[in-house]
Amino acid sequence: MMALRLYEEDEHVAAYLQHRVTPRELIDTIMDFMGSKTPNKFDLAVDVGCGNGKGTELLAPFFKQVVGTDISAGQLEMANNKCQNVSYRQSPAEELAFESGQVDLVTAMTAAHWFDRPRFLKEAERVLKPNGCLALLSYTMDMELEYGHATSALNSICKEFYAALLPFRNPCLGSSSSQIYLDMFDSCTYPDKEWNGCHKIYRTVPINSYIGMVETFTSYQKLKRQNAAEAKRLSEDIRNKLLAAMQVSSPETELTMVVKYFYMLARKP
Ligand SMILES: C[S@@+](CC[C@H](N)C(=O)[O-])C[C@H]1O[C@@H](n2cnc3c(N)ncnc32)[C@H](O)[C@@H]1O
Repeated sequence: MMALRLYEEDEHVAAYLQHRVTPRELIDTIMDFMGSKTPNKFDLAVDVGCGNGKGTELLAPFFKQVVGTDISAGQLEMANNKCQNVSYRQSPAEELAFESGQVDLVTAMTAAHWFDRPRFLKEAERVLKPNGCLALLSYTMDMELEYGHATSALNSICKEFYAALLPFRNPCLGSSSSQIYLDMFDSCTYPDKEWNGCHKIYRTVPINSYIGMVETFTSYQKLKRQNAAEAKRLSEDIRNKLLAAMQVSSPETELTMVVKYFYMLARKP
């Protein structure tokens, strides 16, 4: 399978940097699974499909060296490398430029569904040390919103938003991205492994950031490429409906966004 070229347009990359949520709570879960939260305890972590590096940097305290890799030069340009022990390389997930048995942790955050997964999993297996861990995490597109009495009305509006984007979903994702990860989990032969199908992460964000986050989805980006006016109309319509349900006038009004993560963790014997 050819690597997919996504996340390369300037506006998409910038929106991504502004709105995407980083799963800092799940880094603790990964480090617990690895058996230590001691700073700099491990040598090397590789975050594959690292994008702008916001997730990659969360690994910095626990490893002597962290390397983020991504196929998109545009995404990597946004990585601003604040941590001394973090560096970035442009490379495909299916060809990791590391020696065999060198890596303590391979992660892919909201990225592995885009990879040629059999080839990536083979590469991860090759580069991991014995006892090294693989952590693959992502979230479902159907984020929920909470705002007191308006919560149920808001979620009907969200469903309308997602339904409008469904026809633009990349067919290679099938109907459920968590199934893609569950298939990887099931195919993993390591005896020490863990699956969690729904780990909710809560963020207080303005209405505009929720909409901005949905606008970073590849389905929205596809609609925008095909019909920019319709994409804008859809966002406006959803924003207005959310404001009306919340009985507020400012799109900067904050609400709670619930992102439903799922993950697999596995330790190479
Ligand atoms: C949804 S973004 C996630 C970025 C980041 N990990 C995060 O959590 O914000 C998916 C990333 O995977 C990268 N990607 C897609 N296919 C890839 C491949 N075959 N090899 C390496 N990176 C790839 C994209 O360029 C993009 O930056």
